[in-house]
Amino acid sequence: MKILVTAGPTRESIDPVRYITNRSSGKMGYALAEALVRAGHQVVLVSGPVTLSAPEGLDSLIRVETAAQMAESVKTVFPSCGGAVMCAAVADYRPAEPASEKIHKSEGDLILRLERTEDILLSLGRMKSPDQVLVGFAAETEDLRQRALGKMERKNLDWIIANRVGLPDRGFQSDDNAATAYARTGRVEEFPLMPKKLLAQKLMDLIFPGV
Ligand code: PMT
Repeated sequence: MKILVTAGPTRESIDPVRYITNRSSGKMGYALAEALVRAGHQVVLVSGPVTLSAPEGLDSLIRVETAAQMAESVKTVFPSCGGAVMCAAVADYRPAEPASEKIHKSEGDLILRLERTEDILLSLGRMKSPDQVLVGFAAETEDLRQRALGKMERKNLDWIIANRVGLPDRGFQSDDNAATAYARTGRVEEFPLMPKKLLAQKLMDLIFPGV
């Protein structure tokens, strides 16, 4: 099956030297892409800026920087895929008026106005055909189950992978992670703390069994 995977953070410019981003390293998303390649799938990886090297055997790797660029690539590729796994930590807000020249400091505070970016997963949920499998992630510091189930419903997902963030031993940047996979069918699978590569393999075996 051809499967789209997103990974890493996005970067939203404040001016030519500064940007807003988040703590995503891309490790979880790259591990998912690698697990799918190993299982024999055709994988298109859309990646925000990370320092990881590309998994071997990808069908293609599309590198993007901003949420808008990620949205454009993902929406172009998704119609030809049987499934998509959206692991990227996409910025929800970007500077409304990025400066074209470096902002120089002055005495007072600097106030930045932020505007919403596109919710890419929500757009895919609206585009999705009944035979496509759409998988989202929920990165939460609290109310994990409730927030994850809300996202699955709102974004028309088949699965949502809930993971806790804000702890040093899992989530962003760490080599390990723990997660709960919730299916639209009501199925729930818990995965305790383990290396992201192993977790990725277990998650992808669960959601995309066979080739
Ligand atoms: O990259 P690592 O350092 O390995 O860390 C892994 C991870 C913590 C980033 C990963 O496991 C994870 O949780 N990824 C999702 C991060 C996230 O943005 O979660 P969210 O709950 O804010 O978003 C929910 C879903 O909507 C996600 O599938 C996200 O890709 C998607 N989204 C969010 C915002 C937006 N504008 N567009 C989106 O498509």
